[in-house]
Amino acid sequence: MSRRMSGEKGPRVTRRALLTAALGGAAALAGGAAGGRGGTGQPFRVPAVLAASTGPVKLGVLLPYSKVYQQLGEDITSAMTLYFESVGWTAGGRRITLIREDEDIDPQVALRKARKLIEGDNVDLMTGLVSSASALAIRDLVHNTKTVLVISNAGANAVTRGRRSPYIFRISFSNWQTAYPIGGWFYENVARSCVVGGSDYAAGHEDINAFKENFLAHEGRVLGEVYPPLNNTDYGPYIAQMQRMRPEAVFVFFAGSDAVRFVTQATQYGLLKEARLVGPGFLVEEDVLPAEGRNALGAYSSLHWALTLQKPENLAFTRAYRERWKREASVFAMQGYDAARVIVQALNTTGGDTVNKTGLIEAIASVKFTSPRGAVAFDPETHNVIQTVYLRQVREVGQALHNVVFADLGVFRDPG
Ligand code: BEZ
Repeated sequence: MSRRMSGEKGPRVTRRALLTAALGGAAALAGGAAGGRGGTGQPFRVPAVLAASTGPVKLGVLLPYSKVYQQLGEDITSAMTLYFESVGWTAGGRRITLIREDEDIDPQVALRKARKLIEGDNVDLMTGLVSSASALAIRDLVHNTKTVLVISNAGANAVTRGRRSPYIFRISFSNWQTAYPIGGWFYENVARSCVVGGSDYAAGHEDINAFKENFLAHEGRVLGEVYPPLNNTDYGPYIAQMQRMRPEAVFVFFAGSDAVRFVTQATQYGLLKEARLVGPGFLVEEDVLPAEGRNALGAYSSLHWALTLQKPENLAFTRAYRERWKREASVFAMQGYDAARVIVQALNTTGGDTVNKTGLIEAIASVKFTSPRGAVAFDPETHNVIQTVYLRQVREVGQALHNVVFADLGVFRDPG
């Protein structure tokens, strides 16, 4: 089921707007579609190509609203809503409407939903995607249909490397960016050997490979690798496998409900008494931390944001989010907020034109701003975000547990 948000009104086109669009080099005029009344009150036909660029912007949103990554999808949607509300659901003179679809965790479902948004709903552009597997599945469809896509989570490296597309931008991270940077620090500060693992799909493997690239280069030793399926419930056998290797520390990729279950069961089975818990920050992020509770206390992680990051932009964002949604923001919320901002800024630059793809791509590529996470810009080669990666630890902050930033690892650009 698709869900629509924001009031949608039919296109109100003045003759002046039409003339401006035409003088601005709008593409060759196609057959008539919508209509309206000019200043003289005379009815006129609005050519389809212009109607497409003057009515409400249809933004296709493909995010998980069920299963393991449901909360991630909800957080991204909530923060996008917050940003669009702050600009009155308008950009480049056009209203913004969302058409939402559930990404699920099955990449074939994601592909079907993306096709429905692109070919059925004729969306003007798309955003979303939490799972790397979905991003990989829809890449060719997006590229071949020349659909501009701003990814708000899915880190699959290839999407901004070998399978990159001029139409695809990523404001969140590449999987490499969330795990490579901590490898050397881990070797120096946590343990010289460890067990690694994660959910058995693209993101789990890419995160672990990125961590190993750095950790092994520092002469670290990997005792073994363990990959439970995505959307798993029973981690018992996998935790037992880890314990048999007697690690001093584990470096693991889990997110959403998988993270809660792994951390809870690793505590129950005693693994977290024997080994330090470290991973990309999704493992102990604000969406899962209340459910993990003190089991996560002391865990180290690397990520490009933290709730407690002391920057004016972050204080303003986290306060506004808390007031609007009565819960704490998460990294996923922050990414949704920034994705909405990218789209709004680009539409403001193009004057709302979504038909001229070259213009829209150039406008997105030149977006840069100070995000709640710090300065962000798109790599002109890959369209992946360039950003700072932070070291965090779960600590008590007042009555609650939060990720506290205690160092930054520098600015990282995916190697491409
Ligand atoms: C991914 O599949 O790319 C992903 C999912 C959840 C958190 C981080 C990455």
